[in-house]
Amino acid sequence: MEQYAVRGGNPLVGEVEIGGAKNAALAILAAAVMTDEPVIIDNVPDLSDTKAMIQATESIGCQVEQLGRHTVKITAKTVNSLVVEDDSSKKIRGSYYFLGALLGRYKRAEVALPGGCNIGLRPIDQHIKGFRALGADVRIEHGLIITEAEQLKGNHIYLDVVTVGATINVMMAAVMAEGQTIIENAAKEPHVVDVANFLNSMGANIKGAGTDVIRIKGVHKLHGTEYTIIPDQIEAGTFMFAAAVTKGDITVKNVIPKHLESISAKLMEIGCEVEESDDAVRVVAAKPLTHTHVKTLPYPGFPTDMQPQITVALGLSTGTSIVTESIFENRFKYVDELTRMGANIKVEGNTAIIDGVSKYTGASISAPDLRAGAALVTAALAAEGISIIDDIKFIERGYEDFPHKLQMLGAQIEKVSTERELQKFRLKTG
Ligand code: EPZ
Repeated sequence: MEQYAVRGGNPLVGEVEIGGAKNAALAILAAAVMTDEPVIIDNVPDLSDTKAMIQATESIGCQVEQLGRHTVKITAKTVNSLVVEDDSSKKIRGSYYFLGALLGRYKRAEVALPGGCNIGLRPIDQHIKGFRALGADVRIEHGLIITEAEQLKGNHIYLDVVTVGATINVMMAAVMAEGQTIIENAAKEPHVVDVANFLNSMGANIKGAGTDVIRIKGVHKLHGTEYTIIPDQIEAGTFMFAAAVTKGDITVKNVIPKHLESISAKLMEIGCEVEESDDAVRVVAAKPLTHTHVKTLPYPGFPTDMQPQITVALGLSTGTSIVTESIFENRFKYVDELTRMGANIKVEGNTAIIDGVSKYTGASISAPDLRAGAALVTAALAAEGISIIDDIKFIERGYEDFPHKLQMLGAQIEKVSTERELQKFRLKTG
């Protein structure tokens, strides 16, 4: 079994290049099936989740050519099935984007009920409500969500909760519907905007993405395109917080600083210096961290995908902090692991009350999900002694070359798969 071995204590210092946004890539890879013409997508992060999406496009008959590690060419002219149920797509959440993409283009889709991180209930009622509003029939049979329509017709749709997934899925389904669709209470996340820009580059007519009202005028057909995915806000934020917890000095490069504003603001509040330039942000943690309160909210609020990372930092700050999770109801499972490293955190419902401690100590821990896993790695990097992190498959869903990027910043981290490799790591770093 593969694990990360970490010897903590080194401040992380240097520069790190951020890759393409995972959650934009998942939707864009699905949206590529909406035209017969070739689509070239650049800055696709090389992750197990994106690989699963690419395999799913192949499983329905698309031709996929990997033009480079981060560039993929997809031609959907040869699509021969509208059923997405291969094994890898069942494990990820993003596979639900085939519903909107295939329904929009072919007026029919059958997709296995989605997997993804276990962070709460994660219903899909708003996706279904949106498809039905466009005139589609939706039912769940034998583990598949089946949606079909004679014809899709634009409509006025009010989403009951702000949801990234439903906003993107309904937007894709509406792109070739007859007439105008208006999505109210839409999610405003950078990746919603990126997917809209991608679809517009294929000939769609989407306006307002990035605000809470998105207007889509149906077009008959989409065409091929060449498109570069935006940088990953959460990968960048994770490295920014890694600087804070290890008392380091990290410049995250190839980012859009505007997308990182809520993260930068919290870092400054807890005592870090943050310097922004055109496409980079530098975080310097020269002073002891101080406590604060934070509540996760849809964009432009503080992202739920950064909640474990800020909790790890606040666990090392002076005073008492409160973290409120308002998006997912079960996203504090990692706190038990952090407690094993010496953190003093009490969870009550969707709130964590954190009494800062002066240090963490290395322990054997497991990554319960993607972001919590990455946050625990940052805790291990700050901790005294060695930590062993299990279940790193979760972390690899969303962080390309994570140990390597950390090593380049001075971290002592290695992927090990045998007791012998672990012993070697102990000796080498001891
Ligand atoms: C996306 O999940 C991301 N996943 C998540 O990233 C991210 O945490 C989340 O958005 C919020 O930003 C992907 O893009 C693949 P939502 P998604 O729909 O689409 C409720 C990561 O670590 N809701 O915005 O599932 C839902 O329960 C992952 O990269 C409904 O009630 O999130 C939640 O409370 C984890 N009905 C809220 O809305 C619905 O039909 C927001 O969910 C849909 C959602």
